[in-house]
Parts: sequence; C-alpha cells; structure tokens
Amino acid sequence: MKRIMTVEMLVHKRIRETEQIRRRCIVDMVEWINKEAAAAESGRVHVARFVFLASFNMLGNLMLSKDLVSPDSVEGSEFFEAMIEMMEWSGHPNVVDLFPWLKWLDPQGLRRNAERGMGKTLEIVGGFVSERLKERQSNEGTKKDFLEVLLECEKTGKDEGHKISNHDLNEIFLAGSETTSSSTEWAMVELLSHPEVMNKAKNELAQVVGNNNKFEESHIENLPYLQAVMKETLRLHPPIPFLVPRRAIEETNFMGYQIPKDTQLFVNAWAIGRDPECWDEPLSFKPERFLGSKIDYKGQNFELIPFGAGRRICAGIPLAHRMLHLVLGTLLHEFEWRVDEIGRNGMMDTRERMGVTVRKLVPLKAIPRKCST
Ligand code: HEM
Repeated sequence: MKRIMTVEMLVHKRIRETEQIRRRCIVDMVEWINKEAAAAESGRVHVARFVFLASFNMLGNLMLSKDLVSPDSVEGSEFFEAMIEMMEWSGHPNVVDLFPWLKWLDPQGLRRNAERGMGKTLEIVGGFVSERLKERQSNEGTKKDFLEVLLECEKTGKDEGHKISNHDLNEIFLAGSETTSSSTEWAMVELLSHPEVMNKAKNELAQVVGNNNKFEESHIENLPYLQAVMKETLRLHPPIPFLVPRRAIEETNFMGYQIPKDTQLFVNAWAIGRDPECWDEPLSFKPERFLGSKIDYKGQNFELIPFGAGRRICAGIPLAHRMLHLVLGTLLHEFEWRVDEIGRNGMMDTRERMGVTVRKLVPLKAIPRKCST
C-alpha cells in the first residue's frame, strides 16, 4: 500500500498537478471562517475545525475526486469528533500490554472506546466509497484518482492480490487530516503567544506574496521565515509524539540495553525535540534557529523527526509540506488574528490532550478580521 501510495498519490508530479484542487479547498476555508466569524456573537472561530475540513476535502479530492465535507455536513463534524476520540483512546497506556491475559476483559474499556470511534470513521468513509463505486458503474474509468488506481491494481493483481478495504482509505484520511489540523492549531497558538514572530511572518508574506495577491503554493519556497515557523512548531508539538510503535523482530542489544524479541518500542520524538543536548533554549519558540540552518524534517536530521525516519517514514511529507504552509500562510495572509481568552498568568493555555496524536486540550478559539487582500 505504501508503495502504491507513494508512486500514485504522493509523488511530486501528481502533487503539482493537483495544486488547483487544494487552492479551491483553501478558498472554501477562508469563506467558512468569514461566515462563522460573522455569525458568532463573540466573533470567535474554532480554527482547527475549519483547517480539518479543508484538509479532509484536499485528501478526499485526491482519493475520490470529490469535496466530501462542509461545515454544514453531518459527516464532517462526526468524522472530526470520532477521529479525536479514537486517537485519544488508542494512545492511552494499556495495562493489557503488561498483563496480556486480561485482554478479553479490556479492563479500562480502551478497546471498546477506540473501536467506537474507529467504527464511526469507517462507516463514514465506507459510505463515501460505496457512493463512488455506484457512480463508477455508470462511467467507469473516467476519473483518475487514487481509488481508481487501487481498483485497477486489484483487478490486474499488480499489488500482489491486496484487497483494498475501507480501512486502507480510512487510514489515509486519519494520517493526513488530524496531523495537519493539529499542527496548524499549534502554530497559531505559538504565533498568538509570540506577537513579534507573528509580525515577522506577516511582513514576509506581505513582501513575497504582496497585499493584493492570493497566497499560492509557488510562494512557499521563497518564504524561509514561514518555513522556520512550521519547523519550530513541529519541533515542540510533533502531532504523533511517539511516532508509530515498532516491535523488535529479534532480540537485540541497542546502546547497552538488552531488548527481548517482540518488545514494543516507542521513539519519543516529542522529547527529542526538547532535548537540551540538541537544542539551545529548547522550550523557547524561536523560529530564527532554523534560518540559515540545514536542519529539516525529512528524516536526515535525527534531532527533528516529527515525520519519523527510515523505512517507515511518513509517506505524505511532500503533500504535508504543501498543505501545512498553504493553510498557515493563507490564515496569516488573509486575516488579522487575536484572542480574548488569555489565562490568568497572561499566557495562552497550552495544555495537551494525549493520544496517538497530541491535540490542544482546549481547542483554540480566535477572532479573525479580514485583511484587505
Ligand atoms: C503534519 C503532517 C504530518 C505529520 C507530522 C505526519 C507524521 C507521520 C509519522 C510520525 C508517521 C510514522 C513514521 C514513523 O513511525 O517513522 C507517519 C506515517 C504515515 N503518514 Fe504522515 N504525517 C503527516 C501528514 C501526512 C499526510 C498529509 C499524509 C498523506 C495522506 C500522510 C500519510 C502517511 C502514511 C501513509 C503513513 C504510513 C507510512 C508507513 O506505514 O510506512 N501523512 N506520518
């Protein structure tokens, strides 16, 4: 699956070809935010929710050639809630890992709860897929999207007989939408907590994009400060803090530790990003540290591994890179942002909600004002 995905969906050429789709999803996102801000008495909007819906549609278009959700669609909100629930329950420490004979009892109810979230997301994705399969019967092969590629592989046996399931597609939605929306939410929290950084990022956008122009993906490479803001955000808030769990396939000695076969291993990317041996003032948000530095998140620099490294590295980095900068750049370029809910100590609330992914415990609600672009 990873091979097909990398070659058919996430290869640079295909990503370049689909730029207009993402542009359209971003235009929708800006419109939804404007509408929500005008409708809400407080003017506040739940930032991550709109970013999530836009990311979901970007992926939906790559996979199924369709906008799947909107703020008014029941599925969009249900998927968002169910995904958060599932990610949270699946990330809890489980006593069954230590006492496997308790598995049948599921004493903390973790499996039950995680499966409820998973069941809901699968049901929603399953609905989208069957709708598409029905459409396909009447106009076979007219769309060139990821589902089409998978169905073709299934038919020709190119994929060694892998039968695609709703699970496969569900995983892609989960891998790409939760991570993108939670990273953007953290970036906004850090920028709102550091107005001088926000101003620098906005000034760079004004210079490179121009106040009267729309943010385009082609601008990203000329925005080193925006890129540094994103790296600094992912250093402090990697959305998948322990990466994806590994299992020792044989007994091994690693850095003096004897690791028995079948041990489950976690890589703590969150702690590595805050390690004082790697980072100067590790807890400070200072994007400047990346200016003129070659450190990147593509798996070569082990002090910054929000996407993992090695054979299991995130398959979606080229797409994620574009989505993250497109979304954050647009939010900053199109709106002036402020918050009216600062904690008693004058700081923003940065408590975390731990699961497979780490989200902000209390969702960011910020007040946008449209800039004159
Ligand atoms: C902020 C954005 C993202 C972050 C931080 C992120 C992070 C990660 C991490 C940490 C892993 C596991 C790597 C490991 O354990 O070594 C992973 C795997 C994966 N990611 Fe991402 N990801 C992001 C966006 C995306 C997007 C947009 C897609 C595309 C749809 C995607 C698709 C995948 C897939 C398919 C895998 C599984 C690869 C495998 O099992 O071999 N990710 N991602």
